[in-house]
Amino acid sequence: MGCCHVYEFAEGCESAFTVDASRITFGHGCLREAGARAGQLGMRRVAFFADPHIVDTPLFQTVTDALHAEKIDVVPYTDIHVEPTDASFKAAIAAARDIHPDGFISLGGGSTIDTCKAANLYTAQPAEFLDYVNAPIGGGRKVAGALKPHIACPTTSGTGSEVTGVAVFDLLSLKAKTGIASPRLRPSEALIDPDCTRSLPSQVVACSGLDVLSHALESYTARPYTRRPAPATALDRPGYQGANPWSDLGCREALRLLGAYLQRAVDDATDTEAREQVMWAATLAGIAFGNSGVHAPHGMAYAVAGLVRDFHPASYPQAEPMVPHGMSVIVNAPSVFRYTAETSPQRHLDAAGWLGADVRDAAADDAGEALAQQLIRIMRGVRIPNGLSGVGYGTADVDALTAGAYPQQRLLQNAPREMSKPVLAELFRGALRYW
Ligand SMILES: [Fe+2]
Repeated sequence: MGCCHVYEFAEGCESAFTVDASRITFGHGCLREAGARAGQLGMRRVAFFADPHIVDTPLFQTVTDALHAEKIDVVPYTDIHVEPTDASFKAAIAAARDIHPDGFISLGGGSTIDTCKAANLYTAQPAEFLDYVNAPIGGGRKVAGALKPHIACPTTSGTGSEVTGVAVFDLLSLKAKTGIASPRLRPSEALIDPDCTRSLPSQVVACSGLDVLSHALESYTARPYTRRPAPATALDRPGYQGANPWSDLGCREALRLLGAYLQRAVDDATDTEAREQVMWAATLAGIAFGNSGVHAPHGMAYAVAGLVRDFHPASYPQAEPMVPHGMSVIVNAPSVFRYTAETSPQRHLDAAGWLGADVRDAAADDAGEALAQQLIRIMRGVRIPNGLSGVGYGTADVDALTAGAYPQQRLLQNAPREMSKPVLAELFRGALRYW
């Protein structure tokens, strides 16, 4: 793999990469397979984590019926917090302890799947809550043993949580987003049924689709795995190992699909072809970044979401202010890619082209601007707010945003260029307004 100059080997750095993926079943109606697959995994009593908005829909009934058909006990848990918190994770863990399941099923968006991962982790491998949370906020402890089987069924085409070993939440005491990362958290299987996205509001498709888009872009432009210091032992290689030839494959196709179908999927809920293709792009990008990692736009997004004051987006729960995950990511993206383009101009240009920009006459020096302009075009097309100012932030917030993002070192160190505090502040300033 050293043949490509992007992946040139360097003394003391990594020379191999590892590919992990869940078993995936993708296609119309595959939720009906939940019973047979749960049975095959040895499940007799299931903790069924479901988004409360899905409980009254045929999706919930389809999974429940499929489990009952295999004579599997089903105990639903629906107290899912959109953008979960340590409090909502702890409540779910306590509930799972009472249920005594021998397996888990999750049906919902990233919040539901992540909550289910946390419940599975702390019931199977008990520890103090902060022990497994990413350092420096938590102890970053390794998960020593296996979890119970978990079948994840995503109902949005976004987070990729169904194929990654990460669970993200807000730590309320610090007003900071953080997470737990371990290959053991990766669901045993994913059932990805595009029929789930038929009833999604357009703003939800836009936000989750732009999350997918940024997963692919960040993964494709991440620091190459060959530039990360070699791990002490084979088992110390991190999940966020950097861009590699495997993750590149999924990113390229995800970006091409999003360039062709995202706008259509947002504009027309009856465009089943577009919604299916965006869900396939989400799957590919999820597998890709699960094996390479995201970087600065996601690291910065943790602060953008965590410090929200009074933004209430349409089509999301209105009880509390929030910046939806995909929106909190994409508002940073044009500013970041203007900065990172010089590390791999051709990759930035190719990405702009796959997303629909005409880059035939573009030079290497144009790469950052070409990609930023194409992202801005897409943001405007799917009606995303105008940068950080559009979700309630101003120049006076830059220091707080920087302080909130800087601890996300696991992500920031996966960026291809230095992400010091002054650099982050400059990137936030560049993200305040785009048009
Ligand atoms: Fe994301």
